[in-house]
Amino acid sequence: MKNKRKVLKNKSVLLCVTGSVAAYKAIDVIRRLRDEGASVTVIMTEAAKQFITSLSLEIASQNKVYSDLFSDPMAHITLPAHADIMVIAPATANTIGKFAMGIADNLLSTCLLSFSGKIVIAPAMNWRMYENPVFQKNLNDLLSRGIFQVGPEKGSLACGEDGIGRMSDVSEIIEAIKSALSQKTLAKEKVIVTAGPTREYLDPVRFISNRSSGKMGYAIARAALRKGAEVTLISGHSLLSQPKGVKFISVETASDMLNAVNQELPSSTVLIMSAAVSDFMPAEKAKEKIEKSGELMVKLQKTPDIISEISKNKNRPFIIGFAAETGRKIDRARKKLKEKNMDMIIFNDVAKADSGFDVDTNRVVIIDKEKEIRLPLMSKDSVADAILERLSEIKA
Ligand code: C5P
Repeated sequence: MKNKRKVLKNKSVLLCVTGSVAAYKAIDVIRRLRDEGASVTVIMTEAAKQFITSLSLEIASQNKVYSDLFSDPMAHITLPAHADIMVIAPATANTIGKFAMGIADNLLSTCLLSFSGKIVIAPAMNWRMYENPVFQKNLNDLLSRGIFQVGPEKGSLACGEDGIGRMSDVSEIIEAIKSALSQKTLAKEKVIVTAGPTREYLDPVRFISNRSSGKMGYAIARAALRKGAEVTLISGHSLLSQPKGVKFISVETASDMLNAVNQELPSSTVLIMSAAVSDFMPAEKAKEKIEKSGELMVKLQKTPDIISEISKNKNRPFIIGFAAETGRKIDRARKKLKEKNMDMIIFNDVAKADSGFDVDTNRVVIIDKEKEIRLPLMSKDSVADAILERLSEIKA
């Protein structure tokens, strides 16, 4: 994928792998970090070697793997000095306890003490250990010192029991790393993001909808969270999982979406309409399922235009809309910006297979009243970051 603007580009991650059964997931963490443009160096503890080989981590990271404190006597200073962030995944009760107490008896714990940057920990252990008050005190000590925690989750544990202690999914860990490295440029903003398609019902079981998956809107919601905003995500039907930390409102029709936006509007400072709202709805919705017959004529009427409804208010938020067009009809997007009284519009060419509906990449032009920024084909996460960077510039 051509993607010049990766979120973790040029970031150096020092990944610490400790002795948990979840250690095998470190391979996937490394792969995802490298996909996002980061370079990864791994430190592993002696206990981690019981679960995963140093060779696997070396191959995945394409870097030397460190574990001994004395084979390279300066490694505990030089490795942290070259890192932008340290990540402990999985993080055992032992390593967390040592870190909280300032114990430095192996390469990993010594590096933690000599590092002054951001640290993300992904705890993994049995629920009894996780809930133990001694462990909780150690964890809270670290959190009060600004360490970022991701997970653990509730679920079935390796020992066969159910409870809290499963290491977070790799995507959650990657999200936590990105968030820890993000400038909180939207900390003062309350952002409403709409996403996905709407469904306009003909009868109780049939509806008119579109191909939107919600991927762009969900990526925007995650990017806004990373930049410190308070986020409400109003979503039509989508198979994506709810980003952690958003207020989530599920809707079906364009009218439901308008009501939800109106309900969230007071005190909101930004509205990002990335939903593919139906332009038409059946003029009448049958109460019973419509019987099969030779021919069915359906009369459609316009749905409420959410942006236009909101943009006419005096105390309105900053409004960002999308113009999904087939072909290079950028003029139509410029016109729409004015007609609907928006502050920014994202022109989105949905004609190509790698851009627009239901794919992970997009090709957009960000248009506001001062500037137009034409972006190359990028991941939707990177597009979301670019839109919110421009928003941050305008809001600064
Ligand atoms: O005019 P057009 O429908 O192409 O504008 C697209 C933008 O308007 C999108 O941001 C979409 O979310 C929003 N929209 C809306 N209400 C509708 C239809 C679209 O706010 N009924």
